[in-house]
Amino acid sequence: MNTKVVLSCAALLLLLAGCQRARTIQKAEPDAGRDADAAVPMQDAGGEPDATAPAEDAAMPTDAGSDEPADAMADASDMFDDEDGGITGPRDPDPPCDVQLEEALDGLPDDLICAGLYTDVWRKLLSPDARFYAPAYPLWSDGSGKQRWVILPKGEKIDATDQAAWVMPVGTQLWKEFRVNGRRVETRVLQKTREDRWVRATYEWNRDETWAVRSFGSDRDDVMISGTVYHVPTGSECDQCHGGAKDRVLGFSMIALGLPGAEGLTLEKLVEEDLLDPAPVRTSLVIGDDGTDKGAEAMGWLHHNCGVSCHNSDQNAEAYSTDLFLTLRPTELDGRPSNQFDALQNTVNVDMLSERWGTDRKRIVPGSPEQSVLYQLIATRIGDSKEQMPPIASQLVDPINLTHVREWIAAMPAE
Ligand code: HEC
Repeated sequence: MNTKVVLSCAALLLLLAGCQRARTIQKAEPDAGRDADAAVPMQDAGGEPDATAPAEDAAMPTDAGSDEPADAMADASDMFDDEDGGITGPRDPDPPCDVQLEEALDGLPDDLICAGLYTDVWRKLLSPDARFYAPAYPLWSDGSGKQRWVILPKGEKIDATDQAAWVMPVGTQLWKEFRVNGRRVETRVLQKTREDRWVRATYEWNRDETWAVRSFGSDRDDVMISGTVYHVPTGSECDQCHGGAKDRVLGFSMIALGLPGAEGLTLEKLVEEDLLDPAPVRTSLVIGDDGTDKGAEAMGWLHHNCGVSCHNSDQNAEAYSTDLFLTLRPTELDGRPSNQFDALQNTVNVDMLSERWGTDRKRIVPGSPEQSVLYQLIATRIGDSKEQMPPIASQLVDPINLTHVREWIAAMPAE
């Protein structure tokens, strides 16, 4: 046994009284004792991601026990078989995974442990095929922490013919896991089952994070973020956003992985590993200046938070009829000035189309965030009303990016 294995097992021994099984499934790494946030950076949790962490080492536990209170572990261990003197892993799913997979109409099982991301839910061990990534500009989810992984079918490449709309190979799974106050709440999956078919699901975790089962949406009044109840989306809510992209995927894209801030399996890594067909010439993108010196952050955020899902020119996108398109084009992100980009052409000094907000008002009034309807809508949260943007999935404003947008508009020369 090498030193790394000994160290890793010693830590597990203390916690679990035995590392027999762990040796076979856990790649021993010096970082195995670090906390979850360091081992797999959580970019949107508000903290700085740890660039030195071996982000894509998916075989590691996603947390090494440090945020797991000892008493929760003891309680949980009582639930499981302990045949060989140690924890033998999660209790057997009932019905077993093969039955769950066979019975599921859409191919997604009831229990997360059967779905492909985790090899051991109890110990938080991930499939070695799961690759960590983080998009440059995540969707604001009221401050909850998120981690993402992709599982690509072996030997297959992503069709990158259309740089703005990659087509994933059949068999791809993408995962996004949400945490509130450091605890897992739900884990979402998108799975491509045929050329023209994606299935999706979300799995809600139990309180001690030892099990997660399929959910069809709920309001979790036991999970609060700044006084608001955590909402697990329904399937139709998933579709409202993901239906706006040709191949369903919103944040695993040339732009999300090519701009500064992307992590893990970035555009550069994808090209290095020959996973894109054809490989793009540029592997690092940049949003050029529009003369304000403030445009890049604002436009990057608007692209991912408003553009990719709803405000784009795909006829299935929820906000297609508004004619307000906020997506960026990968081919334009070579540092050229951004003045001609849609995010400006479509907004600055452009009248609102919708009577709801008054057609005499403008989307963006240069120099005046207060008079700019776009800014006012992203600055508003009023429950279920449609008078906020986005209209769903957010009850709290994104304070940092709101500031970026305000400063951007304020810096535009007034006419
Ligand atoms: C308010 C819009 C919205 C809703 C509702 C929503 N998503 Fe997403 N989702 C996004 C955006 C935008 C991204 C990309 C940015 C990110 O990951 O932060 C994303 C990312 C993902 C990813 C990672 C792959 C990707 O597309 O980038 C998965 C998996 C996912 N969502 C699944 C789901 C499932 C399943 C549901 C419903 C239970 C759901 N989402 C509901 C907007 C939404």
